[in-house]
Amino acid sequence: MSPFLPLITTTLSFLTFFCHRDTLFVAAAGRRYSQVSNPHGGKRESVIGWGYRLGSVSVDSSRAKLVADLHLINRTSIFGPDIGHLLLTASFQTSRHLQVKITDADSSRWEVPEEFIPREVWSPNDPSMLGLQQNIPEDLSLSDQASDLVFTLYNTTPFGFSIHRSSSGEVLFDTRPQGPSSSTFLVFKDQYIQLSSSLPGDRSSIYGLGEHTKKSFRLERNQTLTMWNADIASATLDVNLYGSHPFYVDIRDASADGKIAAGATHGVLLLNSNGMDIVYTGDRITYKVIGGILDLYFFPGPSPESLMEQYTELIGRPTPMPYWSFGFHQCRYGYKNVYDLESVVANYAKARIPLEVMWTDIDYMDAYKDFTLDPINFPADKMRTFVDNLHQNGQKYVLILDPGISINETYGTYIRGMKADVFIKRKGKPYQGDVWPGPVYFPDFLNPESERFWGGEIKLFHDVLPFDGLWLDMNEISNFITSDPLNSTLDRPPYKINNAGVRRPINNKTIPATSVHFGTITDYNAHNLYGLSEARATNLALVSTIGKRPFILSRSTFVSSGKHTAHWTGDNAATWNDLAYSVPAILNFGLFAVPMVGADICGFSGNTTEELCRRWIELGAFYPFARDHSEKGSKRQELYLWDSVASSARKVLGLRYRLLPYFYTLMFQAHTRGTPIARPLFFSFPGDRNTYGIDSQFLIGKDVLVSPVLTEGAVTTHAYFPAGNWFDLFNYSSVVSSTEGMFATLPAPADHGNVHVKDGNILAMQGEAMTTDAARKTPFNLLVAVDGSGNSYGEVFVDDGESVKMGQEGGNWSLVKFYSDKTGDGLYIRSYVVNGWFATSQKWVIDKVTILGLKKGIHVEGCQHHSKRGSELTGNPVEVASSSNNSGEFTVVELAN
Ligand code: NOJ
Repeated sequence: MSPFLPLITTTLSFLTFFCHRDTLFVAAAGRRYSQVSNPHGGKRESVIGWGYRLGSVSVDSSRAKLVADLHLINRTSIFGPDIGHLLLTASFQTSRHLQVKITDADSSRWEVPEEFIPREVWSPNDPSMLGLQQNIPEDLSLSDQASDLVFTLYNTTPFGFSIHRSSSGEVLFDTRPQGPSSSTFLVFKDQYIQLSSSLPGDRSSIYGLGEHTKKSFRLERNQTLTMWNADIASATLDVNLYGSHPFYVDIRDASADGKIAAGATHGVLLLNSNGMDIVYTGDRITYKVIGGILDLYFFPGPSPESLMEQYTELIGRPTPMPYWSFGFHQCRYGYKNVYDLESVVANYAKARIPLEVMWTDIDYMDAYKDFTLDPINFPADKMRTFVDNLHQNGQKYVLILDPGISINETYGTYIRGMKADVFIKRKGKPYQGDVWPGPVYFPDFLNPESERFWGGEIKLFHDVLPFDGLWLDMNEISNFITSDPLNSTLDRPPYKINNAGVRRPINNKTIPATSVHFGTITDYNAHNLYGLSEARATNLALVSTIGKRPFILSRSTFVSSGKHTAHWTGDNAATWNDLAYSVPAILNFGLFAVPMVGADICGFSGNTTEELCRRWIELGAFYPFARDHSEKGSKRQELYLWDSVASSARKVLGLRYRLLPYFYTLMFQAHTRGTPIARPLFFSFPGDRNTYGIDSQFLIGKDVLVSPVLTEGAVTTHAYFPAGNWFDLFNYSSVVSSTEGMFATLPAPADHGNVHVKDGNILAMQGEAMTTDAARKTPFNLLVAVDGSGNSYGEVFVDDGESVKMGQEGGNWSLVKFYSDKTGDGLYIRSYVVNGWFATSQKWVIDKVTILGLKKGIHVEGCQHHSKRGSELTGNPVEVASSSNNSGEFTVVELAN
């Protein structure tokens, strides 16, 4: 039988926004507290000594915005003087988020620049606010907002505000001080800002607030999460690492009275780039920030997917990644020379393990200087031949860049940098740090001149060596020295954030906070933006140099980094614990809208073992970004080095390559809707509270479940299966049927990691190959896993895999949607194509259809129609679905029961 699926060309809109109009209101309430303790550990004082009271309140005529004056009740002496007069603004700028902003009413303060996160900034002096009530209105409610969120201001002493859902009444955020502890009050000083919200304890599961290595994905109670980008190995638990993302996702369990169902999800972003501690107790979340303003954004969800859509509407959608970047990558710190690189590539080919991208770490450089080649071990002519050969084989090459530019009068990059005056300064001169090459200056990417300088250097070097992507390391900024502080509270702020878990000075092993970017911006404010600004400059440089979709991997990130770069989780260790920690780490970056993320496969530091490396590739093959990387001096760990690892790698990477169209379609969805590629189970099963605590498994997309082995010596996996029939993707006839969600112990012999797809899904897969390019040339086969009613759905996005833009109007791409449904005893499989030109031009065929889970007695009508070229499905046939020969297979795997 030779099934082929003609496609009906249609234009479907695939983005849906949920909008409700709702209420913004101001209510008066009369709460008073008698005694509180000093938030900074002192004696108890009268409540009146803390917080702010409301002054005048204005609401605009469209009832979309509110502005309130806040007046300090009493001064406190700790952490510097209070700011006496604040301005609170609340606004539904769009129905997709609510912004609450509190800042100094009389002087402007540092805010995350709009150039990174463009957003509507409105002034309380806005004409629409004028002429309105300047007293405190009683119980004023604004009901014309298109959102499920309701903002309420309380005219209490001190004041507070809350946010709740209008649909269920569920309170999401509530800053009303809860006596007797004044650590819950608003404090606003130049270098210490505190805001605290209550949470409903066990009903709330919170995720995010990274970057930290955590044992569990769901945040455990009673911990401080510090945001200060630092070069601290990710093998270290519970301390601030390379990136800062003050964003959390909160999924609520059902209420005790059963009136609120489980699963409504919302998100909260504090858009602030200053150092901070976020104290999470389970019952409260308290921000303790050392600068900037309170700029809070609330995203209503209520589904995790819609929440990500709302979040990335504000911060920007993730940048698309080239198709090739979904192949397997090999790297190592310590490759000796170009012959070493060549032999690694040859050994992968010999072992028949797909290798897409070969990387070089700082070893390739001449004395660790960016944009140079070691003339002895990595000479330009040999490296050029090496890269040309990779390209001829359909493979790619990525190299590392560090931000520190060696101070060396004979080094062209340094000379040009000095001439363009692009380096970060301190005391009026470029700040001198020390990294791999010794003394260095750091380009200041907040200075637009640096973008030109950096882009120019990238272009010059690309002419020497045509690399395909760039790896940005050490950009926290990492510095091997700690410079002496100046006599400034920036270098020694009064409140010490919990840097490195021991309240280490913020200047430790980075550039000092008194360093200056672009004339006036202190590193105190902009520290956490360095990796983001470098990634943005590098992305622009790659677009103009290569003219194709950039691939960038950055270690340091901030809110919105996903618009420019991929990320890896940094220096993990070759241990079983680190293997397990990689799952929460990857899931977090999905929430941070950096969907292209992976951990160093087989472990970076220390010596891996055959068993660990085998289990790691069985998991890592399903990371969105799959790269084996290791530290200099550690045991080599290329996948071909052990027979058992090689054979598992062939098997799991084989499945990854068959799933490439699926991974790539998830990239498209990430780019257009902000949804992660690797997702926690609650994303697809928010109503199943058992999923909230699961972090030893994850989903690729909606319903492909990866259940890895994470412990030494194990030959089984204990895994959770939400309700549904789950088909093993390695062995289609093996099914886990779960009616209400259940834990199951599955065999996981040495060469097997469990990967399942849930019923209701259609996966458009292709064949295995040694490169993604070769895999793309193989026919499609359709895996149709029908649910009990015969329904299933899937989609596949296709384009050339490298155009700078992905899926934009007028572009050359197609989105093919597949559906199955049952009518009588017949199962029909239909397909529709959006923007069909690209698919047509490629002449892809579907030469195999496998149907899983069909009940006995059902005939596959759709496919019979196809083979007879029946009318029902032919519509406007598109070549992507036609079978060029009669060799296509058609398999039905029936469900046993
Ligand atoms: C630190 C990075 O995290 C690591 O991946 C790299 O190998 C070393 N720097 C050397 O460049």
